[in-house]
This record gives sequence, C-alpha cells and structure tokens, in this order.
Amino acid sequence: MVQILHPITTLLCGLLAAAGTSVSAETEYRLPITVLPSHYTIRLVPYFEDRNFTFDGEVEITVNATTDASDITLHYDDMYIIGSPTVVSLAGFQELEVVNTTYDNVTDFFKMELSETLRRGQEYLIRIKYVGILIDGEVGFYRTSYNTSSNEKRWMAVTQFEATHARKAFPCFDEPALKARFQVNIARTQDYHSISNMPRESTSEPE
Ligand SMILES: *[C@@H]1O[C@H](CO)[C@@H](O)[C@H](O)[C@H]1NC(C)=O
Ligand SMILES: *[C@@H]1O[C@H](CO)[C@@H](O)[C@H](O)[C@H]1NC(C)=O
Ligand SMILES: *[C@@H]1O[C@H](CO)[C@@H](O)[C@H](O)[C@H]1NC(C)=O
Ligand SMILES: *[C@@H]1O[C@H](CO)[C@@H](O)[C@H](O)[C@H]1NC(C)=O
Ligand SMILES: *[C@@H]1O[C@H](CO)[C@@H](O)[C@H](O)[C@H]1NC(C)=O
Repeated sequence: MVQILHPITTLLCGLLAAAGTSVSAETEYRLPITVLPSHYTIRLVPYFEDRNFTFDGEVEITVNATTDASDITLHYDDMYIIGSPTVVSLAGFQELEVVNTTYDNVTDFFKMELSETLRRGQEYLIRIKYVGILIDGEVGFYRTSYNTSSNEKRWMAVTQFEATHARKAFPCFDEPALKARFQVNIARTQDYHSISNMPRESTSEPE
C-alpha cells in the first residue's frame, strides 16, 4: 500500500443548493431550522476499483442553536451512516446523547433526536461518519476516468454539488442560505493529485 497524504484545503463558500423543485402541498422540503452551521471539517477517503468505488467520509459541523430544541435535522443522500452521530456542547464539552435518528428518503432529511435540549446561542459540534459511493454519474462525489496517450486508464473522483448534490458527498445543511466555511481533507496515494478551487493549506502523512 502506498503512503497516503492529506492535502488540506480551506474553502469559503456556501452550498449552492436550491430547494426541492417539485413541492407538493403535503411535503415540506425546507429544513426545520434549530441550528445554523458556521464551519465544516470534512474528511474524504476515496477508493477506486480496489474497493468498489466507495469512499469513507467524516464530517464535523460547528453549529449555533437558534432556539431551545431537542432535535437537529440536516440532509444526506445515497450514503450509509456508520454508528451513531455525536453532538457535543462546545460550552463545557459535554456530549448530548443522540437517542433516535430518522431518515426520510423523499426529503433527504436526517433527524437526530437528543436526550437534552439545545440552548439558544450556544455552539455544538456534530460528528457523523459514513460510507458513500463514487457513483458512475455526474452528481455528488462521483467517479470518472480518462485514457493516457499510452492508453492507460486513470481514475478521478470529482464533485458536482449544484443544485442539491452536496448532500451526496457529506451530510450537510444543503440550502443556499446556510453558508459556512469548509475545510476539506482528501486522502490520496502519492501517485494521485488533488485539485480544488482554493489553495492547498497543508499536506501530511497518515495518522
Ligand atoms: C466488490 O463488489 C463485489 C460484487 O458485489 C464483491 O464480490 C466484492 O467483495 C467487493 N469488493 C470489496 C473490496 O468490497
Ligand atoms: C425513533 O423514531 C421513530 C419515528 O418517530 C419511532 O417510530 C421509533 O419508535 C423511535 N425509536 C426509538 C428507539 O425511540
Ligand atoms: C423510500 O423508502 C420507502 C420505504 O422504506 C421505500 O418503499 C421506497 O422505495 C424508498 N424510495 C426510494 C427512492 O429509495
Ligand atoms: C450564536 O449566534 C448568536 C446570534 O447570532 C450570537 O449572539 C452568539 O454569540 C453565537 N454563539 C456563539 C457561541 O458563537
Ligand atoms: C479508454 O479506452 C477504452 C479502451 O480502448 C475505451 O473503451 C474507453 O472508451 C476509453 N475511455 C475514454 C474516456 O476515452
């Protein structure tokens, strides 16, 4: 196995996502807002043929509660959540137990119910681990390839997040008003390159 490097890129951008387009009278596609995200730390480990075009993901989202509520709802699509998400209060660093989660595959809502009430104006850190699929399509975090001049096939993992596909790459508050800062960590072997719309912050050896 070749060494894995982690180039780190800080992105300052919003999720350029629009709300669902086909809104029926009964279905609410807008997130029920109990917290606002301010920062995402995302770790992505893509695999190609050797692991069936999957990727390991982990997202940490810093949020600020807008109301005293005991649930948080965000988006994900086409991924498998590993274990239970965690929610930690950044004032005091105590963990709020996630007592139940529910998923709606029409709205892509992932609702986490907490054992305790969030306090308005306080910050929390949400951590979710998951496995995603580098689909053979052109949305989310997907796979594509090209042939070299010597006809050698080379794989790429690419993102396309507009309009509602960021949620296929990492769980997130995938609405245009909910902008935040992003730090994206990509693992790759030394024979691969990583390219972003922001400069690379650092590169390190695997932990
Ligand atoms: C890839 O998928 C095939 C077919 O489902 C399966 O047999 C194989 O074990 C998978 N390989 C890995 C590394 O998961
Ligand atoms: C979780 O929530 C769902 C939907 O409200 C409910 O059907 C289920 O019983 C709950 N599970 C637990 C362990 O509370
Ligand atoms: C959504 O979930 C329902 C109930 O589990 C299932 O019948 C349906 O096929 C799912 N739809 C999609 C698009 O996955
Ligand atoms: C949360 O947001 C409120 C309203 O913008 C702000 O007053 C408060 O300082 C924020 N809390 C933290 C811990 O940043
Ligand atoms: C690469 O070459 C293979 C075999 O010659 C061909 O089937 C495939 O379409 C080519 N792919 C691209 C992206 O040009």
